[in-house]
Amino acid sequence: MPSTHDYFMTTQRLGFRYWRAMDVALAYGLWGDPRVARWIDARGQLADEQVRERLAGEIQCQQDHGIQYWPFFRRETGGHVGCCGLRPYDPAQRVYELGFHVCAHSWRQGYAREAARAVITHAFDTHRAAALFAGHHPRNKASRRLLTRLGFQYTHDEYYAATGAHHPSYRLEAAGRAPQDAAAAASRTPDKKKQGDLH
Ligand SMILES: CC(C)(COP(=O)(O)OP(=O)(O)OC[C@H]1O[C@@H](n2cnc3c(N)ncnc32)[C@H](O)[C@@H]1OP(=O)(O)O)[C@@H](O)C(=O)NCCC(=O)NCCS
Repeated sequence: MPSTHDYFMTTQRLGFRYWRAMDVALAYGLWGDPRVARWIDARGQLADEQVRERLAGEIQCQQDHGIQYWPFFRRETGGHVGCCGLRPYDPAQRVYELGFHVCAHSWRQGYAREAARAVITHAFDTHRAAALFAGHHPRNKASRRLLTRLGFQYTHDEYYAATGAHHPSYRLEAAGRAPQDAAAAASRTPDKKKQGDLH
């Protein structure tokens, strides 16, 4: 069980930390599950080696860009819930891609929404994002619902090589953040803001 000291960002129920090379079992529990993989990879089922490559890619992204799809955990139990974070999308314009993957055993408990709200605040306040991009598989109703609820606006369909499908794509401008997120950011002290401590 990870200690709370590992978390660089927390919400009411969740704690975020960075992926580590030793997290192979966690990675397999998430991306090795075809119920998750089918929405993010055309292969539908990832082999062990492909899960390891995905984990290595997240670690590399953090090293290269200071962002990744950070793993998050239930603070109460330490149990792994999923990952949610950022990738470079249009670095010159400070536009990042938002993504979320939740372990199937934890679906429909509001975790993706809670995690995404924290990451959005982190993106705008800590990484000074100008805007966020997000897309989803055309048949992914959960993702569409979630992005809409988060305040993302549909912009266009975009080909996504990993799934071989055209993904409905969305943008969230700083001004378009859900009111509760903007209010929470405004009420935080500068010190807490710097630490990324959302509660
Ligand atoms: C998409 C995903 C992250 C949602 O995670 P989750 O923790 O179950 O989502 P939440 O419980 O926070 O629900 C968010 C919203 O989506 C809705 N939702 C969740 N699952 C749904 C489903 N299967 N069908 C329709 N709506 C769904 C919820 O009702 C909620 O909407 P509401 O606030 O209006 O009630 C999760 O299903 C997942 O990891 N899927 C596989 C990977 C993936 O598709 N990632 C997104 C890639 S773009």
